[in-house]
Amino acid sequence: MLLIPINLETPRLLLRTFKYGDINAFIAYRNDPEVAKYQSWDIPYPETAAREFIEYLQQTKPGTLGEWYQLGIALKTTDEIIGDCAFCILAEDGQQAEIGFTLSRQHQGKGYATEAVTCLLAYLFTEYKLHRVRANCDSENIASIQLLERLGMRREGHFVKSLWFKGEWVDELWFAILREEWER
Ligand SMILES: CC(C)(COP(=O)(O)OP(=O)(O)OC[C@H]1O[C@@H](n2cnc3c(N)ncnc32)[C@H](O)[C@@H]1OP(=O)(O)O)[C@@H](O)C(=O)NCCC(=O)NCCS
Repeated sequence: MLLIPINLETPRLLLRTFKYGDINAFIAYRNDPEVAKYQSWDIPYPETAAREFIEYLQQTKPGTLGEWYQLGIALKTTDEIIGDCAFCILAEDGQQAEIGFTLSRQHQGKGYATEAVTCLLAYLFTEYKLHRVRANCDSENIASIQLLERLGMRREGHFVKSLWFKGEWVDELWFAILREEWER
């Protein structure tokens, strides 16, 4: 079953459903220790896991309650995948979502994440008419904190040693934006 793919556009980027041809670029940045440091996967991240992941995405309906969906971030000029951003509409009420994002190291520092996640927020608030979008990150993940602040998301909480992550207790920061804040 291949579902209708998503294709969103920003001035420099495409946010689109992953294709099998993206696998090498995807494996490359997932295996970068700097990129994986604050993320849920462990390295080495094997090709079999990448293949299963892309297969899962091709068969998952975006917006299915409680299921994460990852959109590839591709350069418009070449269609090369340079990262991804993800969302999960919370099953509890269907009106809130959590988001995540990743860029390959060589494409960081160029504003691509800001551009991609701005587009993702617009997609979520318009397509799914959401009430609120939230994100969390490690309190030491400075690039991620700066990105969330640039996006206009409010820092709502600092949870101290709230998560057992890669062998230690870490602090989590929670950010959110309401629909009315996004509309302003
Ligand atoms: C989090 C992450 C996506 C942020 O990426 P980023 O490159 O810092 O963010 P952007 O792509 O928006 O780039 C912003 C930077 O580009 C600069 N920039 C350059 N050209 C720009 C342009 N045309 N437009 C906007 N910003 C531009 C900005 O000034 C900013 O620089 P600064 O960081 O020195 O202030 C990235 O660090 C990452 O993938 N980390 C690993 C995965 C991870 O931890 N994900 C989050 C888990 S919670």
